[in-house]
Amino acid sequence: MAEHKTTSFSSKAGLVLAAAGGAVGLGNIWKFPYIAGENGGGAFLIVYLLCVALFGLPLLLTEFFIGKRSRRSAFGAFSALSGNRRWQWLSWLSMLTALVIMSFYFVVTGWCFCYFCEALTNVFSGMDAAALTNHFGAVVASPLRQILFSLLPVVLTASVLWFDVNKGIERLSKILLPLLLLMMVLMAGSVLMLDGSNVGMRFFFQTDFSKITPSVILEAMGQCFFSLSIGMGALITYGAYMPKNQNVAATSIQVIVLDTLVAILAGIIIFPAVFAFGFSPAEGPQLVFVVLPAVFGQMSFAWFCGVLFFALLCIAAITSTISLMEVAVAFICEASSRPWSKNAKAHPLNRHRSVLLVSAIVCVMVVMCVMSYTGQWPWLKLFGYDLFSAFDQLSSCVMMPLGALGMALFVGWYLPYKGEKPYSGENGFRRAGTKVYMLVLRWLVPIAIVLIFLNSLGLLGV
Ligand code: PHE
Repeated sequence: MAEHKTTSFSSKAGLVLAAAGGAVGLGNIWKFPYIAGENGGGAFLIVYLLCVALFGLPLLLTEFFIGKRSRRSAFGAFSALSGNRRWQWLSWLSMLTALVIMSFYFVVTGWCFCYFCEALTNVFSGMDAAALTNHFGAVVASPLRQILFSLLPVVLTASVLWFDVNKGIERLSKILLPLLLLMMVLMAGSVLMLDGSNVGMRFFFQTDFSKITPSVILEAMGQCFFSLSIGMGALITYGAYMPKNQNVAATSIQVIVLDTLVAILAGIIIFPAVFAFGFSPAEGPQLVFVVLPAVFGQMSFAWFCGVLFFALLCIAAITSTISLMEVAVAFICEASSRPWSKNAKAHPLNRHRSVLLVSAIVCVMVVMCVMSYTGQWPWLKLFGYDLFSAFDQLSSCVMMPLGALGMALFVGWYLPYKGEKPYSGENGFRRAGTKVYMLVLRWLVPIAIVLIFLNSLGLLGV
Protein backbone atom coordinates (compact mmCIF):
# COMPACT_ATOMS: atom_id res chain seq x y z
CA MET A 1 0.00 0.00 0.00
CA ALA A 2 1.04 3.55 -0.53
CA GLU A 3 2.51 5.04 2.54
CA HIS A 4 0.22 7.23 4.67
CA LYS A 5 1.40 10.76 4.61
CA THR A 6 1.76 11.86 8.17
CA THR A 7 4.48 14.46 7.91
CA SER A 8 2.84 17.83 7.94
CA PHE A 9 4.20 21.13 6.85
CA SER A 10 6.05 22.91 9.61
CA SER A 11 3.27 25.47 10.02
CA LYS A 12 -0.16 26.24 8.65
CA ALA A 13 1.13 29.43 7.09
CA GLY A 14 3.95 27.38 5.57
CA LEU A 15 1.40 25.19 3.81
CA VAL A 16 -0.56 28.17 2.48
CA LEU A 17 2.63 29.72 1.13
CA ALA A 18 3.83 26.43 -0.34
CA ALA A 19 0.48 25.78 -2.04
CA ALA A 20 0.34 29.39 -3.24
CA GLY A 21 3.95 29.09 -4.39
CA GLY A 22 2.99 26.00 -6.42
CA ALA A 23 -0.01 27.81 -7.88
CA VAL A 24 1.67 31.14 -8.59
CA GLY A 25 3.93 30.78 -11.57
CA LEU A 26 4.12 31.41 -15.27
CA GLY A 27 0.35 31.00 -15.44
CA ASN A 28 -0.08 34.30 -13.64
CA ILE A 29 2.76 36.31 -15.12
CA TRP A 30 3.25 34.88 -18.61
CA LYS A 31 -0.06 33.31 -19.58
CA PHE A 32 -2.65 35.54 -17.93
CA PRO A 33 -1.55 38.77 -19.69
CA TYR A 34 -1.24 37.15 -23.10
CA ILE A 35 -4.60 35.37 -22.93
CA ALA A 36 -6.28 38.50 -21.53
CA GLY A 37 -4.65 40.56 -24.28
CA GLU A 38 -5.96 38.23 -26.98
CA ASN A 39 -9.44 38.09 -25.48
CA GLY A 40 -10.45 41.69 -25.04
CA GLY A 41 -8.78 42.78 -21.78
CA GLY A 42 -11.54 43.97 -19.45
CA ALA A 43 -14.10 41.57 -20.89
CA PHE A 44 -11.75 38.69 -20.13
CA LEU A 45 -10.92 39.96 -16.65
CA ILE A 46 -14.53 40.00 -15.50
CA VAL A 47 -15.26 36.50 -16.84
CA TYR A 48 -12.01 35.27 -15.30
CA LEU A 49 -12.95 36.62 -11.87
CA LEU A 50 -16.37 34.99 -12.17
CA CYS A 51 -14.72 31.66 -13.05
CA VAL A 52 -12.42 31.95 -10.02
CA ALA A 53 -15.46 32.40 -7.76
CA LEU A 54 -17.61 29.80 -9.46
CA PHE A 55 -15.04 27.05 -10.18
CA GLY A 56 -11.90 28.06 -8.35
CA LEU A 57 -13.04 28.06 -4.76
CA PRO A 58 -15.24 24.92 -4.74
CA LEU A 59 -12.72 22.89 -6.75
CA LEU A 60 -9.74 23.98 -4.69
CA LEU A 61 -11.66 22.91 -1.59
CA THR A 62 -12.56 19.61 -3.22
CA GLU A 63 -8.98 18.70 -4.10
CA PHE A 64 -7.70 19.70 -0.68
CA PHE A 65 -10.44 17.57 0.92
CA ILE A 66 -9.56 14.54 -1.21
CA GLY A 67 -5.93 14.78 -0.12
CA LYS A 68 -6.63 15.59 3.50
CA ARG A 69 -9.08 12.75 3.98
CA SER A 70 -7.18 10.09 2.02
CA ARG A 71 -3.62 11.13 2.97
CA ARG A 72 -2.61 9.90 -0.48
CA SER A 73 -1.25 11.44 -3.65
CA ALA A 74 -3.41 11.67 -6.78
CA PHE A 75 -2.48 8.05 -7.49
CA GLY A 76 -4.00 6.39 -4.43
CA ALA A 77 -6.53 8.97 -3.26
CA PHE A 78 -9.48 7.94 -5.42
CA SER A 79 -9.29 4.23 -4.75
CA ALA A 80 -8.58 4.80 -1.05
CA LEU A 81 -11.71 6.92 -0.64
CA SER A 82 -14.04 4.92 -2.87
CA GLY A 83 -12.77 1.47 -1.93
CA ASN A 84 -12.64 0.39 -5.57
CA ARG A 85 -10.70 1.15 -8.73
CA ARG A 86 -13.53 2.61 -10.78
CA TRP A 87 -12.23 6.17 -10.39
CA GLN A 88 -8.64 5.31 -11.17
CA TRP A 89 -8.99 7.00 -14.57
CA LEU A 90 -8.80 10.30 -12.70
CA SER A 91 -5.31 9.38 -11.46
CA TRP A 92 -4.24 8.49 -14.98
CA LEU A 93 -5.68 11.73 -16.32
CA SER A 94 -3.80 13.69 -13.62
CA MET A 95 -0.51 12.07 -14.54
CA LEU A 96 -1.02 12.63 -18.28
CA THR A 97 -2.06 16.24 -17.72
CA ALA A 98 1.10 16.84 -15.66
CA LEU A 99 3.22 15.47 -18.54
CA VAL A 100 1.43 17.55 -21.16
CA ILE A 101 1.75 20.75 -19.10
CA MET A 102 5.40 20.10 -18.33
CA SER A 103 6.30 19.77 -22.01
CA PHE A 104 5.53 23.41 -22.79
CA TYR A 105 5.93 24.83 -19.27
CA PHE A 106 9.61 23.92 -19.24
CA VAL A 107 10.07 25.64 -22.61
CA VAL A 108 8.69 28.89 -21.21
CA THR A 109 10.73 28.41 -18.02
CA GLY A 110 13.73 28.08 -20.34
CA TRP A 111 12.89 31.47 -21.89
CA CYS A 112 12.83 32.91 -18.34
CA PHE A 113 16.28 31.45 -17.59
CA CYS A 114 17.58 32.79 -20.88
CA TYR A 115 16.17 36.27 -20.15
CA PHE A 116 17.64 36.12 -16.65
CA CYS A 117 21.12 35.50 -18.10
CA GLU A 118 20.61 38.25 -20.65
CA ALA A 119 19.40 40.68 -17.98
CA LEU A 120 22.59 39.89 -16.05
CA THR A 121 24.72 40.83 -19.03
CA ASN A 122 22.62 43.92 -19.74
CA VAL A 123 21.61 42.81 -23.23
CA PHE A 124 18.34 44.77 -23.28
CA SER A 125 19.73 48.17 -22.51
CA GLY A 126 18.73 50.73 -25.12
CA MET A 127 16.47 48.40 -27.09
CA ASP A 128 13.18 49.85 -28.36
CA ALA A 129 9.93 47.98 -29.02
CA ALA A 130 10.96 46.76 -32.47
CA ALA A 131 14.39 45.64 -31.26
CA LEU A 132 12.86 43.75 -28.32
CA THR A 133 10.42 41.97 -30.61
CA ASN A 134 13.27 41.02 -32.96
CA HIS A 135 15.32 39.87 -30.01
CA PHE A 136 12.65 37.44 -28.84
CA GLY A 137 12.36 36.21 -32.41
CA ALA A 138 16.10 35.50 -32.41
CA VAL A 139 15.88 33.62 -29.10
CA VAL A 140 13.17 31.30 -30.32
CA ALA A 141 14.78 30.90 -33.73
CA SER A 142 17.59 28.89 -32.19
CA PRO A 143 16.23 25.46 -31.27
CA LEU A 144 19.47 24.25 -29.69
CA ARG A 145 19.74 27.21 -27.34
CA GLN A 146 16.08 26.86 -26.38
CA ILE A 147 16.45 23.16 -25.72
CA LEU A 148 19.50 23.72 -23.53
CA PHE A 149 17.79 26.47 -21.56
CA SER A 150 14.66 24.30 -21.12
CA LEU A 151 16.61 21.30 -19.91
CA LEU A 152 18.26 23.35 -17.16
CA PRO A 153 15.01 23.76 -15.17
CA VAL A 154 14.18 20.08 -15.82
CA VAL A 155 17.45 19.12 -14.13
CA LEU A 156 16.86 21.59 -11.28
CA THR A 157 13.33 20.32 -10.64
CA ALA A 158 14.43 16.70 -10.82
CA SER A 159 17.23 17.43 -8.34
CA VAL A 160 14.81 18.90 -5.82
CA LEU A 161 12.66 15.76 -6.04
CA TRP A 162 15.69 13.47 -6.12
CA PHE A 163 17.31 14.93 -3.01
CA ASP A 164 13.92 15.42 -1.39
CA VAL A 165 14.64 19.00 -0.40
CA ASN A 166 11.02 20.10 -0.46
CA LYS A 167 11.42 21.57 3.00
CA GLY A 168 14.00 23.97 1.60
CA ILE A 169 11.54 24.91 -1.12
CA GLU A 170 8.89 25.57 1.49
CA ARG A 171 11.27 27.99 3.15
CA LEU A 172 12.05 29.55 -0.22
CA SER A 173 8.33 30.06 -0.94
CA LYS A 174 8.01 32.01 2.27
CA ILE A 175 10.29 34.76 1.04
CA LEU A 176 9.62 34.35 -2.66
CA LEU A 177 5.97 35.36 -2.73
CA PRO A 178 6.23 38.49 -0.58
CA LEU A 179 9.31 39.57 -2.52
CA LEU A 180 7.63 38.93 -5.86
CA LEU A 181 4.57 40.91 -4.80
CA LEU A 182 6.71 43.81 -3.59
CA MET A 183 8.71 43.86 -6.80
CA MET A 184 5.53 43.79 -8.90
CA VAL A 185 4.00 46.66 -6.93
CA LEU A 186 7.15 48.73 -7.59
CA MET A 187 7.00 47.88 -11.29
CA ALA A 188 3.29 48.75 -11.46
CA GLY A 189 4.04 52.09 -9.80
CA SER A 190 6.68 52.97 -12.35
CA VAL A 191 4.55 51.83 -15.31
CA LEU A 192 1.62 53.94 -14.19
CA MET A 193 3.80 57.07 -14.39
CA LEU A 194 4.30 56.54 -18.14
CA ASP A 195 2.55 58.82 -20.62
CA GLY A 196 -0.42 57.02 -22.10
CA SER A 197 -0.61 54.39 -19.39
CA ASN A 198 -4.29 55.20 -18.88
CA VAL A 199 -5.11 53.67 -22.27
CA GLY A 200 -3.76 50.34 -21.02
CA MET A 201 -5.60 50.65 -17.71
CA ARG A 202 -8.82 51.26 -19.60
CA PHE A 203 -8.14 48.25 -21.82
CA PHE A 204 -7.62 46.02 -18.78
CA PHE A 205 -10.33 47.30 -16.47
CA GLN A 206 -13.10 48.58 -18.72
CA THR A 207 -15.56 45.88 -19.69
CA ASP A 208 -16.97 45.92 -23.18
CA PHE A 209 -19.72 43.33 -22.70
CA SER A 210 -20.08 42.82 -26.45
CA LYS A 211 -16.62 41.22 -26.39
CA ILE A 212 -17.74 38.41 -24.06
CA THR A 213 -18.04 35.56 -26.54
CA PRO A 214 -18.23 31.78 -25.89
CA SER A 215 -14.55 31.46 -26.75
CA VAL A 216 -13.65 34.15 -24.19
CA ILE A 217 -15.59 32.13 -21.59
CA LEU A 218 -13.77 28.91 -22.51
CA GLU A 219 -10.37 30.63 -22.36
CA ALA A 220 -11.18 32.26 -19.01
CA MET A 221 -12.29 28.95 -17.53
CA GLY A 222 -9.15 27.23 -18.81
CA GLN A 223 -6.94 30.00 -17.47
CA CYS A 224 -8.63 29.77 -14.07
CA PHE A 225 -7.88 26.01 -13.89
CA PHE A 226 -4.33 26.48 -15.09
CA SER A 227 -3.48 29.36 -12.80
CA LEU A 228 -4.90 27.70 -9.68
CA SER A 229 -3.46 24.27 -10.66
CA ILE A 230 -6.95 22.75 -10.51
CA GLY A 231 -8.04 19.41 -11.98
CA MET A 232 -4.76 17.51 -12.15
CA GLY A 233 -4.06 16.32 -8.65
CA ALA A 234 -1.32 18.77 -7.66
CA LEU A 235 -3.49 20.19 -4.88
CA ILE A 236 -4.32 16.70 -3.59
CA THR A 237 -0.64 16.40 -2.63
CA TYR A 238 -0.81 19.55 -0.50
CA GLY A 239 -4.07 18.34 1.07
CA ALA A 240 -2.34 15.09 2.02
CA TYR A 241 0.21 17.03 4.05
CA MET A 242 -2.32 19.25 5.83
CA PRO A 243 -2.38 18.94 9.60
CA LYS A 244 -5.73 17.69 10.90
CA ASN A 245 -6.76 21.04 12.29
CA GLN A 246 -5.89 23.05 9.17
CA ASN A 247 -8.80 25.27 8.19
CA VAL A 248 -9.32 24.18 4.59
CA ALA A 249 -11.76 26.95 3.70
CA ALA A 250 -9.44 29.69 4.93
CA THR A 251 -6.43 28.06 3.24
CA SER A 252 -8.26 27.89 -0.10
CA ILE A 253 -9.36 31.52 0.09
CA GLN A 254 -5.84 32.67 0.93
CA VAL A 255 -4.34 30.72 -1.98
CA ILE A 256 -6.95 32.12 -4.37
CA VAL A 257 -6.47 35.70 -3.21
CA LEU A 258 -2.67 35.49 -3.56
CA ASP A 259 -2.87 33.85 -6.98
CA THR A 260 -5.41 36.32 -8.32
CA LEU A 261 -3.51 39.28 -6.91
CA VAL A 262 -0.36 38.27 -8.78
CA ALA A 263 -2.31 37.84 -12.04
CA ILE A 264 -4.01 41.24 -11.73
CA LEU A 265 -0.72 42.92 -10.86
CA ALA A 266 0.81 41.34 -13.96
CA GLY A 267 -2.01 42.87 -16.01
CA ILE A 268 -1.47 46.28 -14.39
CA ILE A 269 2.21 46.13 -15.33
CA ILE A 270 1.85 44.76 -18.84
CA PHE A 271 -1.09 46.59 -20.43
CA PRO A 272 -0.19 50.21 -19.66
CA ALA A 273 3.34 49.41 -20.90
CA VAL A 274 1.94 47.74 -24.04
CA PHE A 275 0.16 50.91 -25.07
CA ALA A 276 2.81 53.34 -23.84
CA PHE A 277 5.61 51.62 -25.79
CA GLY A 278 3.58 50.82 -28.90
CA PHE A 279 3.23 47.02 -28.65
CA SER A 280 0.03 45.13 -29.45
CA PRO A 281 -1.91 43.50 -26.57
CA ALA A 282 -2.46 40.46 -28.79
CA GLU A 283 1.25 39.62 -29.26
CA GLY A 284 0.61 36.05 -28.07
CA PRO A 285 2.98 33.95 -25.94
CA GLN A 286 5.86 36.39 -26.45
CA LEU A 287 3.95 39.31 -24.87
CA VAL A 288 5.65 39.57 -21.46
CA PHE A 289 9.07 38.76 -22.87
CA VAL A 290 9.00 41.73 -25.20
CA VAL A 291 7.22 44.13 -22.85
CA LEU A 292 9.00 43.51 -19.53
CA PRO A 293 12.52 44.53 -20.63
CA ALA A 294 10.99 47.78 -21.91
CA VAL A 295 9.44 48.31 -18.46
CA PHE A 296 12.79 47.86 -16.72
CA GLY A 297 14.43 50.15 -19.24
CA GLN A 298 12.61 53.17 -17.83
CA MET A 299 12.89 52.22 -14.14
CA SER A 300 15.65 53.56 -11.93
CA PHE A 301 18.20 50.82 -11.16
CA ALA A 302 17.11 49.19 -14.44
CA TRP A 303 19.77 46.49 -14.40
CA PHE A 304 19.14 45.49 -10.80
CA CYS A 305 15.33 45.44 -11.23
CA GLY A 306 15.55 43.32 -14.39
CA VAL A 307 17.91 40.80 -12.84
CA LEU A 308 15.90 40.55 -9.62
CA PHE A 309 12.57 40.18 -11.40
CA PHE A 310 13.73 37.48 -13.80
CA ALA A 311 15.37 35.64 -10.90
CA LEU A 312 12.08 35.73 -8.99
CA LEU A 313 10.20 34.62 -12.10
CA CYS A 314 12.55 31.64 -12.52
CA ILE A 315 12.05 30.61 -8.89
CA ALA A 316 8.26 31.03 -9.19
CA ALA A 317 8.33 28.81 -12.27
CA ILE A 318 10.45 26.18 -10.52
CA THR A 319 8.11 25.96 -7.51
CA SER A 320 5.33 25.22 -10.01
CA THR A 321 7.32 22.66 -11.98
CA ILE A 322 8.12 20.87 -8.71
CA SER A 323 4.44 20.46 -7.92
CA LEU A 324 3.80 19.32 -11.51
CA MET A 325 6.60 16.78 -11.62
CA GLU A 326 5.68 15.47 -8.18
CA VAL A 327 2.30 14.32 -9.53
CA ALA A 328 3.91 12.23 -12.27
CA VAL A 329 6.72 10.90 -10.05
CA ALA A 330 4.37 9.85 -7.25
CA PHE A 331 2.11 8.17 -9.81
CA ILE A 332 4.88 6.10 -11.40
CA CYS A 333 6.52 5.28 -8.09
CA GLU A 334 3.29 4.12 -6.44
CA ALA A 335 1.83 2.45 -9.54
CA SER A 336 4.91 0.29 -9.96
CA SER A 337 4.65 -1.02 -6.41
CA ARG A 338 0.94 -1.81 -6.49
CA PRO A 339 0.18 -5.28 -5.18
CA TRP A 340 -1.99 -5.97 -8.25
CA SER A 341 0.74 -4.96 -10.66
CA LYS A 342 2.19 -8.13 -12.18
CA ASN A 343 5.57 -6.47 -12.47
CA ALA A 344 5.66 -5.28 -8.88
CA LYS A 345 8.28 -7.78 -7.84
CA ALA A 346 10.26 -7.77 -11.05
CA HIS A 347 10.67 -4.01 -11.56
CA PRO A 348 9.95 -2.05 -8.45
CA LEU A 349 10.54 1.59 -9.41
CA ASN A 350 11.72 3.44 -6.40
CA ARG A 351 11.44 7.19 -6.13
CA HIS A 352 14.84 7.87 -7.65
CA ARG A 353 14.13 5.72 -10.67
CA SER A 354 10.73 7.34 -11.07
CA VAL A 355 12.34 10.78 -11.04
CA LEU A 356 14.74 9.62 -13.77
CA LEU A 357 12.00 8.10 -15.88
CA VAL A 358 9.73 11.15 -15.67
CA SER A 359 12.66 13.48 -16.41
CA ALA A 360 13.58 11.43 -19.47
CA ILE A 361 10.00 11.51 -20.78
CA VAL A 362 9.79 15.25 -20.15
CA CYS A 363 13.09 15.89 -21.95
CA VAL A 364 11.82 14.10 -25.05
CA MET A 365 8.53 16.02 -24.96
CA VAL A 366 10.34 19.35 -24.47
CA VAL A 367 12.53 18.66 -27.52
CA MET A 368 9.44 17.77 -29.57
CA CYS A 369 7.69 20.97 -28.45
CA VAL A 370 10.64 23.17 -29.35
CA MET A 371 11.21 21.51 -32.73
CA SER A 372 7.54 21.82 -33.59
CA TYR A 373 7.18 25.42 -32.33
CA THR A 374 10.26 26.67 -34.14
CA GLY A 375 9.15 25.02 -37.37
CA GLN A 376 12.20 22.72 -37.56
CA TRP A 377 9.91 19.72 -37.70
CA PRO A 378 6.90 21.16 -39.53
CA TRP A 379 5.31 17.71 -39.79
CA LEU A 380 5.01 17.48 -36.00
CA LYS A 381 1.54 18.89 -35.41
CA LEU A 382 -1.53 18.09 -33.31
CA PHE A 383 -4.97 19.12 -34.56
CA GLY A 384 -3.22 21.39 -37.05
CA TYR A 385 -1.32 23.33 -34.34
CA ASP A 386 2.34 23.15 -33.38
CA LEU A 387 2.85 21.02 -30.27
CA PHE A 388 3.57 23.97 -27.98
CA SER A 389 0.26 25.70 -28.73
CA ALA A 390 -1.66 22.42 -28.91
CA PHE A 391 -0.44 21.27 -25.47
CA ASP A 392 -1.01 24.72 -23.97
CA GLN A 393 -4.61 24.71 -25.21
CA LEU A 394 -5.28 21.01 -24.61
CA SER A 395 -4.21 21.09 -20.95
CA SER A 396 -6.10 24.24 -19.91
CA CYS A 397 -9.23 23.94 -21.98
CA VAL A 398 -9.76 20.16 -22.12
CA MET A 399 -7.74 18.04 -19.70
CA MET A 400 -7.94 20.18 -16.55
CA PRO A 401 -11.68 20.93 -16.90
CA LEU A 402 -12.25 17.21 -17.50
CA GLY A 403 -10.26 16.28 -14.37
CA ALA A 404 -12.13 18.91 -12.38
CA LEU A 405 -15.46 17.59 -13.67
CA GLY A 406 -14.49 14.08 -12.58
CA MET A 407 -13.47 15.25 -9.11
CA ALA A 408 -16.68 17.27 -8.71
CA LEU A 409 -18.75 14.20 -9.59
CA PHE A 410 -16.62 11.99 -7.34
CA VAL A 411 -16.97 14.15 -4.22
CA GLY A 412 -20.38 15.63 -5.04
CA TRP A 413 -22.25 12.46 -6.03
CA TYR A 414 -20.30 9.23 -5.70
CA LEU A 415 -18.82 9.55 -2.22
CA PRO A 416 -22.07 10.68 -0.52
CA TYR A 417 -23.79 7.76 -2.27
CA LYS A 418 -21.18 5.44 -0.71
CA GLY A 419 -21.75 7.10 2.68
CA GLU A 420 -18.43 8.94 2.72
CA LYS A 421 -18.21 12.71 3.17
CA PRO A 422 -14.63 13.88 2.86
CA TYR A 423 -15.64 17.42 3.77
CA SER A 424 -17.60 16.66 6.94
CA GLY A 425 -16.19 17.75 10.27
CA GLU A 426 -13.69 20.03 8.60
CA ASN A 427 -13.24 23.14 10.62
CA GLY A 428 -13.93 26.46 8.98
CA PHE A 429 -17.02 24.98 7.40
CA ARG A 430 -20.39 25.78 8.96
CA ARG A 431 -23.51 23.86 8.05
CA ALA A 432 -24.80 26.55 5.68
CA GLY A 433 -21.38 26.62 4.04
CA THR A 434 -21.49 22.87 3.49
CA LYS A 435 -24.93 23.13 1.89
CA VAL A 436 -23.86 25.86 -0.51
CA TYR A 437 -20.62 24.00 -1.28
CA MET A 438 -22.49 20.78 -2.12
CA LEU A 439 -25.06 22.59 -4.22
CA VAL A 440 -22.38 24.33 -6.25
CA LEU A 441 -20.25 21.20 -6.58
CA ARG A 442 -23.11 18.89 -7.56
CA TRP A 443 -24.95 21.12 -9.99
CA LEU A 444 -23.37 24.39 -10.90
CA VAL A 445 -19.80 23.20 -11.57
CA PRO A 446 -20.61 20.08 -13.66
CA ILE A 447 -23.39 21.75 -15.65
CA ALA A 448 -21.26 24.81 -16.38
CA ILE A 449 -18.26 22.73 -17.48
CA VAL A 450 -20.40 20.48 -19.71
CA LEU A 451 -22.17 23.46 -21.31
CA ILE A 452 -18.87 25.22 -22.02
CA PHE A 453 -17.49 21.98 -23.51
CA LEU A 454 -20.55 21.33 -25.69
CA ASN A 455 -20.48 24.87 -26.91
CA SER A 456 -16.82 24.78 -27.84
CA LEU A 457 -17.52 21.62 -29.84
CA GLY A 458 -20.10 23.69 -31.68
CA LEU A 459 -23.00 21.57 -30.41
CA LEU A 460 -24.98 24.41 -28.82
CA GLY A 461 -24.69 26.79 -31.72
CA VAL A 462 -24.35 29.88 -29.47
N1 PHE B 1 -0.56 27.07 -11.62
C1 PHE B 1 0.73 27.07 -12.22
C2 PHE B 1 0.99 28.44 -12.80
O1 PHE B 1 0.18 29.31 -12.72
C3 PHE B 1 0.84 25.99 -13.27
C4 PHE B 1 0.52 24.64 -12.73
C5 PHE B 1 -0.55 23.94 -13.23
C6 PHE B 1 1.27 24.11 -11.69
C7 PHE B 1 -0.88 22.70 -12.71
C8 PHE B 1 0.94 22.86 -11.17
C9 PHE B 1 -0.12 22.17 -11.67
O2 PHE B 1 2.00 28.68 -13.36
